[in-house]
Amino acid sequence: MSHLLIGNWKMNLGSSKGGELATAIRETITPTSGTDIWIAPPFTSISNVSNSLKGSNIKFGSQNVHWEDHGAFTGEVSIPMLKELGCTFVIVGHSERRKYFGETNNIVARRASAALRAEMYVAYCIGETLEERAKGQTNTIIQEQLDPIIYHLRPGEEKFLVISYEPAWAIGSGNVAPVEEIEKVHQFIKDYWKDTVTSSIRTNCPKILYGGSVVPENFAPIIASNLVDGALVGGASLSAQKLKALFDISEAALKL
Ligand code: PGA
Repeated sequence: MSHLLIGNWKMNLGSSKGGELATAIRETITPTSGTDIWIAPPFTSISNVSNSLKGSNIKFGSQNVHWEDHGAFTGEVSIPMLKELGCTFVIVGHSERRKYFGETNNIVARRASAALRAEMYVAYCIGETLEERAKGQTNTIIQEQLDPIIYHLRPGEEKFLVISYEPAWAIGSGNVAPVEEIEKVHQFIKDYWKDTVTSSIRTNCPKILYGGSVVPENFAPIIASNLVDGALVGGASLSAQKLKALFDISEAALKL
């Protein structure tokens, strides 16, 4: 078993500040075979982050990607463009993309399957809103978000896929989800994967991360769960010290 921590910087830190933080992270953390670290800066900071991380095994990637290689898609960035910079992964379907930019399950799945086809790792974000949870719709929403990517998945591609469960109500709110609630949804995802995918293309469920207000103070019980393979971290990933603290907690949990 191994863990993965993804730092999602969102729309924070331009090129020079991003490069500085990546240098600080590199000097503070040495990823092990136990816990991987991936960093997702804004597009314009990727180059500098790449320079700062040269020679380290911390990976970097982007917060979104288009499914076409080039063309008239104003404001979008393609897989070959990201690969040219050395990106090895993309985040897709973040709840902020869904909420503020109207990204649907189909759009998210198109982005993800193009990246998987190009052998880029994909952090595929799913999760319910507070309203959906209150109506008891969590599992239905998760299922609807998973279906289009499962439908497009080809054998072998699952090894590039990471599922990130991020209840929208927990993101940036300071309200981390209770461990039992995280476990219930992660178990549901595993069962659903087994029922729908394993029987047809015989693949194990990908890693499942949790995201939403993860900080060093609340992370230990979350990562101690056998159902949690890591975290997608927003705010706390903007500090090398906090990321290092999360890394140490993850390493300690692997030894439990
Ligand atoms: P947060 O963001 O850690 O700041 O809540 C999480 C995320 O957006 O994935």
